[in-house]
Amino acid sequence: MNVLKFQIKLAYRVELFGTGFYRGLSKQYNTKYPDLTKMLDHAAAQEYGHSKLFSACYSGLFNKKLGGEKFWLGFGFCQSYFLFVLPVSLKLKLARITELLAVKQFERDLAAGAKNKYIDIVKRIIQDEKDHAEICNKWKKS
Ligand SMILES: [Fe+2]
Ligand SMILES: [Fe+2]
Repeated sequence: MNVLKFQIKLAYRVELFGTGFYRGLSKQYNTKYPDLTKMLDHAAAQEYGHSKLFSACYSGLFNKKLGGEKFWLGFGFCQSYFLFVLPVSLKLKLARITELLAVKQFERDLAAGAKNKYIDIVKRIIQDEKDHAEICNKWKKS
């Protein structure tokens, strides 16, 4: 599989995983911490939008649709429940670490200097990922 194909496919899956993960967390805290839920819903909507950008990019370039949307959404959703025994602050810290890893990967991709549609999307969404990484700092349990 060529590198670009792999990059887009992986990014698509990670975005769907993130969508499911934030949706799951949001569901767990929607009565307890409505302000946190708002941030998580916003992040989930952005991640889902990112997945759509990558899937449109993939079909445009390779004339093939990326599948597995339900699987990757469900996988992320389940993971957020798998962590249910942990305190919310720790779950948010784990999400932060994951977001920062994604940012690092995107920065490496940008630094590699390629010019293509994948890179165009990365440029467009990298700030969202940085914002997601800050949720755990912005939200203070009250
Ligand atoms: Fe994203
Ligand atoms: Fe993100």
